[in-house]
Amino acid sequence: MAIRNILTYPEKSLLQPSVKIESIDDEIRTLINDMGETMFDAPGVGLAAPQVGVNKRVIIYDLHARDKDNDGTVNEFKALINPEIIEASGSIVSEKEGCLSVVDYSADVKRYETVVVRALDIDGNPLEFKTDGILSVIMQHEIDHLDGILFINRISVLKRSLYKKKLAKELNSN
Ligand code: NI
Repeated sequence: MAIRNILTYPEKSLLQPSVKIESIDDEIRTLINDMGETMFDAPGVGLAAPQVGVNKRVIIYDLHARDKDNDGTVNEFKALINPEIIEASGSIVSEKEGCLSVVDYSADVKRYETVVVRALDIDGNPLEFKTDGILSVIMQHEIDHLDGILFINRISVLKRSLYKKKLAKELNSN
């Protein structure tokens, strides 16, 4: 297992769609384990493969990854392969949503309240679940990553341009 480098906006792999996984082989299993270690190290509650530069449709998440009493074990996160949102309803504002790939920025993002997710688990078994609240937001955020969409693509044009200006300033001052 290894901690991988988390890419940040405007890195190319974050902005392009990822391909479906055809077979869950050792390469994919290693990728998932590395993503787990990377997510806990960051720490974050979710991570999508494009964030570590791999444009394949896999996401991982763990609602408790940031808890102070987490002892750093990386075997409790869940992985979803080829996840899709097959139903979505309602509307909520996800307050101060952030992303490990969008440094030093958060914003309120309009999200669906409830989603139904269909995916494969790490053993290739199909699964389907309905969720709302924080997990619903995580699902929408992470699956967006697989389509090359970041939360900053879901805020107003004005807010996005302010963020880009701020980022350009920071990059120039380094
Ligand atoms: Ni993200």
